[in-house]
Amino acid sequence: MSYRHALAALTAAAGLVLASVPASAATADGHGPGRTLGELAAATHRYFGSATDNPEFTDQAYLDILGREFDSTTAGNALKWYATEPQQGVFDFTQGDQVLDFARRHNMSFRAHTLVWHNQLPDWLTSGTWTADQLRAILKNHITQEARHYRGKVYSWDVVNEAFNEDGTYRDTLFYRTLGPGYIADALRWAHQADPHAKLYLNDYNLEAVGPKSDAYYALVKSLKAQHVPIDGVGFQGHLALQYGYPDTLRQNLQRFADLGLDVAITELDVRMILPADAEKLATQAKWYADVTKACLAVRRCVGITVWDYTDKYSWIPAVFTGEGAALPYDENLAPKPAYYAIRDALKAAGR
Ligand code: G3I
Repeated sequence: MSYRHALAALTAAAGLVLASVPASAATADGHGPGRTLGELAAATHRYFGSATDNPEFTDQAYLDILGREFDSTTAGNALKWYATEPQQGVFDFTQGDQVLDFARRHNMSFRAHTLVWHNQLPDWLTSGTWTADQLRAILKNHITQEARHYRGKVYSWDVVNEAFNEDGTYRDTLFYRTLGPGYIADALRWAHQADPHAKLYLNDYNLEAVGPKSDAYYALVKSLKAQHVPIDGVGFQGHLALQYGYPDTLRQNLQRFADLGLDVAITELDVRMILPADAEKLATQAKWYADVTKACLAVRRCVGITVWDYTDKYSWIPAVFTGEGAALPYDENLAPKPAYYAIRDALKAAGR
């Protein structure tokens, strides 16, 4: 537990107000001075994190809020295969180390993302022709070198990211095609050997509601647990969109995974909308952020929430979904939006 976590938990337990903790959240909002999202989450024995990315490290105003308001971070791109093993057997952890160093200097825990994913792979890997034995050796070496470099320094690893299709069948990736479904158990075992203390996760999107995709994960992790494969948690990315409706079964779904003896976490939360934003959409978005927060708070094994960066200034959405955006709790000028206050209120109510 970090100093900040420990202090917040202790103070909450004593029923005191955290008056001595350096202030924090925006105040000119009618909501009064407040503790940060990280401090409020810690009072509920959870973390509240934000993803970040290396190009943002030149923006001091952005970094000030990141380091002050959040007590966990995830590197949005720095630990992906294309960045960490750009040539076969040649590893580069410069970008990941930059984010980790920031996290450590600000007492933030670090969710490491991700060891095995079908996107953002280096050209040498995607353009090669590999036998199963060759690819297994490549995968093992990648996982071992990367997880070993960060051994003892990260809270968790998203070991395999986005392994399933929407209908619950395995996604047809280089790894699945060449190695079969056993690559997931192998990846977890190799990651565990390289860093026995990191919490090991499978992570995916559109997993929030009960349905074919989350059912497939449920069956997989149940069978992995039965075989004593090292798996600690499931990450529910939480890329939501106002136009598609709120996943009403989120809480129930988190709970059924927790009941298997796993941690669960919301790992990449954002709530996009069709632009332009207006007061009504922002109010609905705020309610969704609060509802996701409450769903996590209602499940004891839900360990924390991470937003996929905290400001619309650096959201991935507009580049991918044309005409959509405004998905995060801070606007493009780094000002908190209704969603920010809604999250804060939900955390505050639970941490009393
Ligand atoms: O590095 C190049 C840079 O050299 C070039 O100038 C620039 C021009 O577009 O592109 C840069 O690469 C971009 C990369 O992010 C790094 O910034 C890619 O175009 C861009 O597609 C890539 O997007 C990332 C996306 O994953 C790729 O799928 C997002 O930043 C990142 O937030 C997003 O994160 C994923 C999670 O890992 C998994 N879950 C979904 C989530 C959102 O897609």
